[in-house]
Amino acid sequence: MKPGFVVRTDRFLVEDSVKNGNRFLIGNGYFGYRGTLDEGAATDMVALNIAGLYDRQGSKWREPINAYNPFYTTLKVNSTLIHPNTIAPTEHTQGIDMECGTHFRESRFMIGTTVVKIASERFAVQAEKRLIVTKYSFSVSTSADLELCTGIDADVYDINGPHLAKPKGATHYDASYLTSRTLELAIPVVVAEVTVTDLTVTAKPVWEDNRFVRVFRFRAESGVTYSMIRFAAVTYGGENTASEAIELVRAAKKHGYRSIKAENAAWWKAKWTISDVRVRGAEEAQLGLRNSIYHLISIRPRDAFHSVPARGLSGQVYKGAIFWDTEMFMMPFYLNTDLEAARNCVMYRVHTLAGALRKAKQYGYLGAFYAWESQETGDDACSDFNVTDPVTKEPIRTFFKEQQIHITGDVVYAALNYLDRTKDLSVLAEGGLEMLLESVRFYLSYVKLDRRDGLYHVPCVIGPDEYHEGVNDNAYTNRLIHHTLQGAVRAVAAMRKKDNPFVTKLFAEKKYAGIVQKATRVAAKLYVPTPDEHGLIAQFQGYFHLEDATVDAVKARIQHENEYLGGPNGVVTPTQVIKQADVVTMLALFPEDYPDRIKKANWTYYEPRTEHGSSLSASMYALVAAAIGETEYGYPLFLKSAMIDILGEGKSYAGGIYIGGTHPAASGGAYLVAIYGFAGLRYAAGKIRLDTRLPKAITGLTFKIATGTRTATVEVTKNGGVIKWSD
Ligand code: BGC
Repeated sequence: MKPGFVVRTDRFLVEDSVKNGNRFLIGNGYFGYRGTLDEGAATDMVALNIAGLYDRQGSKWREPINAYNPFYTTLKVNSTLIHPNTIAPTEHTQGIDMECGTHFRESRFMIGTTVVKIASERFAVQAEKRLIVTKYSFSVSTSADLELCTGIDADVYDINGPHLAKPKGATHYDASYLTSRTLELAIPVVVAEVTVTDLTVTAKPVWEDNRFVRVFRFRAESGVTYSMIRFAAVTYGGENTASEAIELVRAAKKHGYRSIKAENAAWWKAKWTISDVRVRGAEEAQLGLRNSIYHLISIRPRDAFHSVPARGLSGQVYKGAIFWDTEMFMMPFYLNTDLEAARNCVMYRVHTLAGALRKAKQYGYLGAFYAWESQETGDDACSDFNVTDPVTKEPIRTFFKEQQIHITGDVVYAALNYLDRTKDLSVLAEGGLEMLLESVRFYLSYVKLDRRDGLYHVPCVIGPDEYHEGVNDNAYTNRLIHHTLQGAVRAVAAMRKKDNPFVTKLFAEKKYAGIVQKATRVAAKLYVPTPDEHGLIAQFQGYFHLEDATVDAVKARIQHENEYLGGPNGVVTPTQVIKQADVVTMLALFPEDYPDRIKKANWTYYEPRTEHGSSLSASMYALVAAAIGETEYGYPLFLKSAMIDILGEGKSYAGGIYIGGTHPAASGGAYLVAIYGFAGLRYAAGKIRLDTRLPKAITGLTFKIATGTRTATVEVTKNGGVIKWSD
């Protein structure tokens, strides 16, 4: 294992298992498998989390499915169960080798005078996304009676489950499998496995404690390492879900563990060649950034009907929903390294347009009001009550879905970036143009003309700072609306040039006549907050009249550590304390619009008033810090984003609701800071240049940018940077 590519722990603590489940996650975009141990069960939050397959249990939140766990394995030595939760291992290592996307563990136990060793590795197959593979081996230092129990665990960890009907277990030659259906939509889900051992005994699958397992009983010789290999597949949705899963595991067995492992390693090697950012001089930054990239690769969307959930594929937190996190924080990484994934993110929004149209209609608007929390149909999964009062346990009404109207502009921002970078107008032809124009239509129906100043204003919204609800003229939101109106007009022009009859037909069909003129007119008269005499931009109307308290002073007013700080009764609401970067996010997204003086004034004002209560915050401050020459101040904020999942220090509760998991927006944010902040990559008129601002700790950065046709290798040192192009 190469140093700089390994995240590991050398201790075992039961209380680390949730954190480790996130840290040591493996995945291939189709599923994520939490970094739990082989003997882990539902109580350890073992989860094979499926991307984009959702279910509702009763009236609870809809959330993604955790499939049955195909890799449940325990060992008994002379009738004693060897389980780290009950017998402390004398040595223990667990981690991920990011270079080849493999989870590993090695544990040593003492049972009397017998040394028991267990080792395993597992990886998500990249070439066949429905496959996951593991190798498990063990030995005893003195001859003993062993019982190896291995199979599919039907006892699934769920937040709001169960989501699967009682499974049926069956076998087909050497494969065993469980079939079930989701409860809400009766979608078939199958988990199949084949086990190959070097044992002389065999075992047939039987049901034991809600597990469909094989129990191998035999006398183990001292010092002999026994091993087994298991191929598992998870399939869902089709007519032939079960036969597909069986075929997959049998074909995998035939292909062989060694070949699959070698091919997977080669896939990762190629992926790292294009995606890695080499950091010189700072080991922690290197590891954090690589880990960020590792997670973004592991959860990339595999097709145009999926995008990346806010907690990746680490579980069911945030309903497995897609937020603005993907568009604003993760897309830049995909745009530079994996254009297919970037296109999938854009097309997912095209395919969920119908949900956005329904949502706008529901609230009395026209066009596309995108879901704040989007699942497979684009209808809003965000509930009315998103947080609870940790003291009274009463749900608290929040207005995230009604008022975070910036989401539509975020979707458009990412689509326009994709178009600017790739010139791939096929996206517009396949529904993208409609998506842009319906977004325009939404905003045109939302903004209000104030006859007193002749300008259009944007009432009653929530900006990125979720704590202040129902505010008027949030700078970030208004700027995004402006961008949407102008960008859509440009896209119409580009598409007219390419295929005028297509545009004419679409305009007739969707009744878009006059929309370009109206968008242009409103954009020209849209109020976008501008800097005052001190260079400060008000986050929203009246912001500067709120009580000017410090974050610490406000936090001292709470009664419970998990108390929700925002909303009508929140302690921060009457104050200028904000949850996360808001104006500063706007400055980061539109760097060319504002001179450094304005960036500096706002950065300096808002940073001390920011709680950084969202993992989306630190990277935006770090990015703008680099732009204004405050790189040293920004560096710890960059590290905070980059290291969040390694350290497992993200916020775990919001007003009594568990919100832990991986933080791909922070990962994407860390990438953004390294590339656009420290290396200072800039795009202008199809060309790239560098405006390098390395922090003291980093002596150099090397990375690649893939444009689809050409690849640039960028080498940055303290003395500036060099860009080399290759075909
Ligand atoms: C943040 C949002 C973010 C969401 C999901 C919330 O805490 O305020 O901006 O989209 O988490 O990451």
